[in-house]
Amino acid sequence: MTTPSFTPKSYSPTPARRVAFLGLGVMGYPMAAHLAKAGHTVTVYNRTPAKAAAWLQELGGAPHAGAPTPREAAAGADIVFCCVGNDDDLRSVVLGDDGAFAGMQADAVFVDHTTASANVARELSEAAQAKGLHFIDAPVSGGQAGAQNGVLTVMCGGEAAPFERVEPVVGAFARAVTLLGASGAGQLAKMVNQTCIAGLVQGLAEAIAFGQRAGLDMAKVLEVIGKGAAQSWQMDNRGKTMIEGKFDFGFAVDWMRKDLGLVLDEAKRNGARLPVTALVDQFYADVQQAGGSRFDTSSLVTRLK
Ligand SMILES: NC(=O)c1ccc[n+]([C@@H]2O[C@H](COP(=O)([O-])OP(=O)(O)OC[C@H]3O[C@@H](n4cnc5c(N)ncnc54)[C@H](OP(=O)(O)O)[C@@H]3O)[C@@H](O)[C@H]2O)c1
Repeated sequence: MTTPSFTPKSYSPTPARRVAFLGLGVMGYPMAAHLAKAGHTVTVYNRTPAKAAAWLQELGGAPHAGAPTPREAAAGADIVFCCVGNDDDLRSVVLGDDGAFAGMQADAVFVDHTTASANVARELSEAAQAKGLHFIDAPVSGGQAGAQNGVLTVMCGGEAAPFERVEPVVGAFARAVTLLGASGAGQLAKMVNQTCIAGLVQGLAEAIAFGQRAGLDMAKVLEVIGKGAAQSWQMDNRGKTMIEGKFDFGFAVDWMRKDLGLVLDEAKRNGARLPVTALVDQFYADVQQAGGSRFDTSSLVTRLK
């Protein structure tokens, strides 16, 4: 028997819904699996059909199904979930003759978990309204492990009524689902999240490089200071692997550069000054140039060795 790519959890009871999921990548695959395990009927679409076939095989097929286009996956669904790469990928599965909006029934809700710009969220929200549909931007935090264990944090932007309809369903793969404001507010909150992480990881990388040069046993040092004011999620979850020089898991540098690009673009518009974030973005560019595009974000420490 193969290991399931998600960890079943105790799902809160909520009426079973007919849903679609577009994009079965590292994040989408386990998120869609949690929806199925929570009792919802799921139709999946993935650009590369083999992933949808693998998902259907793992989840046991009927009542779940696969569809060859986003339009056909979305037909008849109450809620259409999506988790693809960037703004253009999102437009390509939403708009056009084969896009999800062409297949969705009136009053259905599109919930987008892609990390994308606030502008594309507003653009697609307007397009949804013009068709009698709803759009919620809902980027996530918690990484691959959070998706597999069904404990993601979901930051939402949109209108209250459709949000209230989708919130209990999103609970199948999340432990916190919060509406933060109008369309785009979820993406803006995710930008705040990534800004917090960028500077912190660089600080942690410098601390580890400093301690190693000073001849300290850094595993022991992090164990001690991790119980004090220097503690962080990054220290707890990535400190040990940074010391060991292991970067082959988690959130990739390529994705982080996309996310910091979104942050810096938005800062140009709203006038926020982000000198450290801009610098760390360039440090990530160094990691990419040195061949570390698929390393996880803690690989900033490699520049300091
Ligand atoms: N990985 C993480 O830890 C993490 C954490 C938080 C947020 N996120 C965000 O979540 C999103 C997805 O990340 P991921 O790690 O799941 O990425 P991934 O494993 O690369 O999966 C991307 C998915 O999007 C599909 N896709 C991409 N471009 C497409 C297009 N033009 N048309 C149709 N489908 C397309 C891919 O289809 P194919 O299979 O055909 O390529 C795949 O299903 C990104 O916005 C990322 O920033 C990721």
